[in-house]
Amino acid sequence: MRVIAGSAKGRRLRTLPGIDVRPTADRVKEALFSILLSRFDLRGAEVLDLFAGSGALGIEALSRGAQRVTFVDEAKPALATLRANLEHCQVDRAAQILPFSVGTALQRLANAAARFDGVLLDPPYCRGQIDKTLSLLAENSLVKAGGWVMVEHHVDEPPAQAYGTLRLTQSRRYGKTALALFANEGMPQVQKETDNSLRAVYAGSFDPITNGHLDLVRRAMQVFDHVIVAVAGLTSDAQKGRALFSGEERVALIREALGNAGDEVVVDNFGGLLVDYCDRVGATVIIRGLRAVSDFEYEFQMAMMNRHLKPHIHTMFMAAGETHSYTSSRLVKEVAALGGDVRGLVPEGVHRELLKKLRPSR
Ligand code: PNS
Repeated sequence: MRVIAGSAKGRRLRTLPGIDVRPTADRVKEALFSILLSRFDLRGAEVLDLFAGSGALGIEALSRGAQRVTFVDEAKPALATLRANLEHCQVDRAAQILPFSVGTALQRLANAAARFDGVLLDPPYCRGQIDKTLSLLAENSLVKAGGWVMVEHHVDEPPAQAYGTLRLTQSRRYGKTALALFANEGMPQVQKETDNSLRAVYAGSFDPITNGHLDLVRRAMQVFDHVIVAVAGLTSDAQKGRALFSGEERVALIREALGNAGDEVVVDNFGGLLVDYCDRVGATVIIRGLRAVSDFEYEFQMAMMNRHLKPHIHTMFMAAGETHSYTSSRLVKEVAALGGDVRGLVPEGVHRELLKKLRPSR
């Protein structure tokens, strides 16, 4: 079996011996990615590969531009083969391996508020895993709004039409094997294009969120019907490995800070281009905060680039509250690391986590 396309195209993959292991046949794998890519973009996507086995599906996703794939499998031989395949295809740096049962891994991911653009699900046939796993994915909101789940299953074990907001959109049969593509149509709170509500994305690195950011979220909520606070996965800091908090930690801190702010605000994370994310969640406005004139040049450049990419998406600038004009995530981290008091500049939970990360012996 070989990688079909992308950066690792043509690389041979090791497979797993044994009666219990059923690697996806090449023609099914080819069909799977062709169905998937006709509707979704893998570039920049965060993908979860459940019952990963030798990793063939997740590695194909990485080869075709997925930003990160989290592989889940608990069998030792599978893990060894998976690691060897990742290394051989030179995609190991974009891979995370969770060596647990799928149930345990999903629980851990849910606790960490992880969310994925897509999930590859290829369990052993006819063991009741399809229903169980799809239900867990839906119950724990592990798939982002606009995301997908691709299931490979035996024709005798077809999945249901829907699991929560995950809806079956396409299915195809190849002998005894079948593919089923689910789309998470559950837009945050309201359905895209079925109402006239105004939806805005407030995007940023939020490493970590400050009271200045929160002030802006609250102002935006007064103007827009729905505000999606979107944590960028690929910021310049994260790319260089300099981010203090992981994407999941940042999302969890924002959720904690917003507490019961109401249904009008949703916290999410995204990979890839911001304008593509806006389309996925049905937002036509990007909100950015301006503290001072010095912010303007960078912001204007981004707004123009985003307009160049998608002219129907508009950037709107909102003025931050004057008391927050000097607050920035970068300065907050620097001051906290050097022992300065940042209380009042960041929410309580962020203050707590900053101390834990930056001054653990305190
Ligand atoms: O808080 P930040 O770091 O100023 O936010 C910048 C952010 C995350 C909004 C920007 O880097 C971004 O949109 N990243 C996603 C990737 C993208 O779309 N890049 C092109 C921007 S013009």
